[in-house]
Amino acid sequence: MNSYTATATAHPNIAFIKYWGNRNASLRIPDNGSISMNLNGLVTKTTVTFREDSEEDVLILNGKSASYDALQRVRSMLNLVRTITGIKQAACVESENNFPTGAGIASSAAAFAALAAAASKAAGLDLDEPALSRLARHGSGSACRSIPSGFVEWLPGDDDLSSYAISIAPPQHWNLVDCIAIVRELPKSVGSTTGHGLAPTSPLQACRVTDAPRRLEICRKAILERDFDTFAKITELDSNLMHAVMMTSTPSLFYWSPASLKVMAATSRWRADGIPVCYTLDAGPNVHLITTTEYVDTIKKQVQEIQGVQRTLCATPGGPVSLTLSSD
Ligand code: DP6
Repeated sequence: MNSYTATATAHPNIAFIKYWGNRNASLRIPDNGSISMNLNGLVTKTTVTFREDSEEDVLILNGKSASYDALQRVRSMLNLVRTITGIKQAACVESENNFPTGAGIASSAAAFAALAAAASKAAGLDLDEPALSRLARHGSGSACRSIPSGFVEWLPGDDDLSSYAISIAPPQHWNLVDCIAIVRELPKSVGSTTGHGLAPTSPLQACRVTDAPRRLEICRKAILERDFDTFAKITELDSNLMHAVMMTSTPSLFYWSPASLKVMAATSRWRADGIPVCYTLDAGPNVHLITTTEYVDTIKKQVQEIQGVQRTLCATPGGPVSLTLSSD
């Protein structure tokens, strides 16, 4: 019996300029470009094995058989790889996160980055970084940003070939830290894929998208020049714009909780007092506080005093997806 196996690890990422809405939902060609940072220390490890003796794809997540919906999403990516390579075998996919699932961290980004890398390698493909980023994008848009290293920009493109992510600076470029203030551990009520589909129903989305190149330019330059003040203002503006679109969609999506707002208000006060810190929120109530290494302890201490904050989880800039290959 032949089996072909490969293992890959990937980090989740936090977006400073957000992806919200698709021009082409099936290919995940986004309405606008986005910029993010990979999160070091938080890791998804995935092993893919194509086996001649298996009839059906199998997905094991953190030691347990995954739901039908999760398996279907994984199967779509395996089918893409099978179409490219002509491989016929079913696959066993085993995946583990070292970070708590449901902690408000975009686990689909790390999951599909690791899956794209492991599945393509196990099938005998040797994809370069842009090709791997494109493949990961098919599984989850934000996953394309977990392929390159450090600070990353997703070039939105207008077709499958032109939509992929590149590194704009390595992890050691800037000593930023993402301190996630966890206010709720439960999975979000409306997932991102559904949310992207609602974006065009908001009258604010067109304006948000038209202005995106300006925000991307400001954010990219602020990162490259390590200009925290400019970075903080554009990151908070972009998060607020995305949430304004969410709140004004039909049906409307409200992801913030009272505790999220308390943390956001405190962040403005701390920054006015001279601490380099800003907030950004994804499709959930947990608040990502971006600061620098010198201020992590201060921020952790202060944020834990806010009612409703359960705990914090901190991450420095992370590296790219990485692979180990073996076969028997
Ligand atoms: C709010 O990449 O999770 O985190 O492509 O449907 O899997 P799918 O969506 P996903 O969307 C991420 C949305 C976001 C903003 C961001 O990470 O840019």
